[in-house]
Amino acid sequence: MSRTTVAQVLRASESPGMVTVKGWVRTKRDSKAFSFIEINDGSCLSNLQIVADATIEGYEESVPHLRTGASVSVEGEIVESQGKQQWEMQAKSVTMLGNSDEDYPLQKKGHSPEFLRSIAHLRPRTNLFGAVFRMRSRMAYAIHQFFQEQGFVYVHTPIITASDCEGAGEMFRVTNLDGKTLDTKPEEDFFGKPSYLTVSGQLEGETFACALSNIYTFGPTFRAENSHTSRHASEFWMIEPEMAFCDLDDDMALAEAMIKYLAADALEHCAEDLEFLNKFVDKGLKERLEFVKKRDFERISYTDAVELLLKSNKKFEYKVEYGLNLQSEHERYLTEEHFKCPVTVYNYPKDIKPFYMRRNDDNKTVAAMDLLVPGIGEIVGGSQREERLDVLRENLKHHDLTEEDYYWYVDLRRYGSVPHAGFGLGFERLLMFVTGVSNIRDVIPFPRTPGSAEF
Ligand code: 4AD
Ligand code: MG
Repeated sequence: MSRTTVAQVLRASESPGMVTVKGWVRTKRDSKAFSFIEINDGSCLSNLQIVADATIEGYEESVPHLRTGASVSVEGEIVESQGKQQWEMQAKSVTMLGNSDEDYPLQKKGHSPEFLRSIAHLRPRTNLFGAVFRMRSRMAYAIHQFFQEQGFVYVHTPIITASDCEGAGEMFRVTNLDGKTLDTKPEEDFFGKPSYLTVSGQLEGETFACALSNIYTFGPTFRAENSHTSRHASEFWMIEPEMAFCDLDDDMALAEAMIKYLAADALEHCAEDLEFLNKFVDKGLKERLEFVKKRDFERISYTDAVELLLKSNKKFEYKVEYGLNLQSEHERYLTEEHFKCPVTVYNYPKDIKPFYMRRNDDNKTVAAMDLLVPGIGEIVGGSQREERLDVLRENLKHHDLTEEDYYWYVDLRRYGSVPHAGFGLGFERLLMFVTGVSNIRDVIPFPRTPGSAEF
């Protein structure tokens, strides 16, 4: 008999009858005549309760010896339960697949996320991380669905690249040379020139948008920035749509529609996990997602946002001044205190933005946008791209970049240039938003941050 998942059993409208369920023991209570065993197989948050009579097949060899964390296969009849769940199993046989040592670290008491990070190989077995990682999977699926439904083409952009898209110089070098050879004979390096792990697939994405019109990427990106915050990781996943024949308004509309779609999808398909997260992690979570799903977001220009922050009379740690980047505390003020909803800030000063953004007619700002959400701040960053050859060339010069290195990017402006725009959604920031989890390390299976690459 093949395996039936705990989710299949618990969501059944009629009893599935005799089934075999396999999973890990969460708790066990023995009495003389029978044992109650709760097992979880990760298919859903809930455990299945097994009632194992002491007279059933395999009982003596297995049940009394089972410890928390042991893996089992149980066969039995699904019957109506007296407890809070509709179904439980009346076991006919129990087989221990692998017992668990006595020092199994996940005992019944709750553990802190910090402790669980130190056992990242076992933490998916907890309620919290099971919920988070099921939602991570669902959100990845929903993102593909959102773009595929609208005819966007999924493009795999390279992980190894020679160009620094964001121009921040925060890249991990990729080499097969030892340090000494790299210093003295860099031309012997594997790719013949300095190569890095990508910080963004955007530039390559643009080449495909300038052929297939609407595309998106969804892959890992790497940043060697020494940020020790709860919102920065050194390895994270990014979704980068790019649309030809589109401007900044279309770009903002797409980003807003995507966030709404994902909030609605989470509410519809992750109900049990959201219930748990709402109860134990963030009491405002479900209400916030409902709000995001239904209500329009706000938009404000960077210039007006700076004005608003200056007038707020709020004491910020970092200075607010036209020409400076907005810090997370400023972004959070806008979303949490002023607008009380997600906000898109657009038209940033050109000097704080990368070379590829389209210059506005005021000659001071570029057609950039950041979508900010309560609790996190920036979740999406995007822009309309500079499609005018002469302006792009000026921008490259201004950013100390050479046309030689970016000739292929410049070519797009020589052969049938079109207005186009796109953005990057930080997948982990989105997950923080839809799970209520406040540290990015806890939405990544094996987080990489400065000083930490365990597991
Ligand atoms: O704003 P960023 O740097 O934009 C780009 O990379 C553009 N090339 C995107 C584009 O227009 N195609 O990054 C985009 C998003 C941010 O809004 C944030 O959500 C996330 O990526 N992000 C990070 N997430 C986790 N850890 C980090 N260190 C991140 N840096 C950026
Ligand atoms: Mg950004």
